[in-house]
Amino acid sequence: MSLAVYPGTFDPITNGHVDILLRSLALFDKVIVAIATNPNKTPLFSLDERTQFIREALGDKSSRVEFDHNQGLLVDYCQERGATTIVRGLRALADFEYEFQLAHMNRRLAPGVDTVFFMTDERNHYVSSSLVKEVASFGGDVSGLVPTAVAEALQKTYEGKK
Ligand code: COA
Repeated sequence: MSLAVYPGTFDPITNGHVDILLRSLALFDKVIVAIATNPNKTPLFSLDERTQFIREALGDKSSRVEFDHNQGLLVDYCQERGATTIVRGLRALADFEYEFQLAHMNRRLAPGVDTVFFMTDERNHYVSSSLVKEVASFGGDVSGLVPTAVAEALQKTYEGKK
């Protein structure tokens, strides 16, 4: 059985992430969405909320997806789970440098674990979790960029902070 790990902070999941996840299911029998810790980010939503958003966004397509979280090194997690592939999405040029570093560092740490990149769908190439949060925090409309439940939760969260 081919198994891949799709890691990320997913704070929150965007339609760009959903697209990558669905496309990865065409290549792999099972995909583990690993909500991982990025030491450079302080999440707005809890782990449970982020997991729930992803689960809801996938609906009935989630049967081959497992949800987990990982607080250590990503490659250690992959090895523990017997996964040899990491899935990541690539948007514009700006992503390349960062993803290049991550992929090389991961391969140095664990040569048996490789990264597969999907080019982000053209509709989502400018979307990021941070930008969506920023727009929502000023009351802007983020529907169409994130799953409906996420758009509603963002609106509620930022209304509550006013
Ligand atoms: N469409 C739209 N947006 C996308 C996207 C897509 N297809 N793919 C990524 N993005 C955006 C996200 O919205 C996010 O935006 P943000 O930076 O504004 O939050 C950004 O691109 C990337 O976020 P995400 O995909 O959630 O991942 P990340 O970069 O936060 O995750 C980890 C990085 C978790 C994989 C990395 O920190 C890690 O491996 N941590 C574990 C510890 C470890 O092993 N460290 C050593 C690594 S070598």
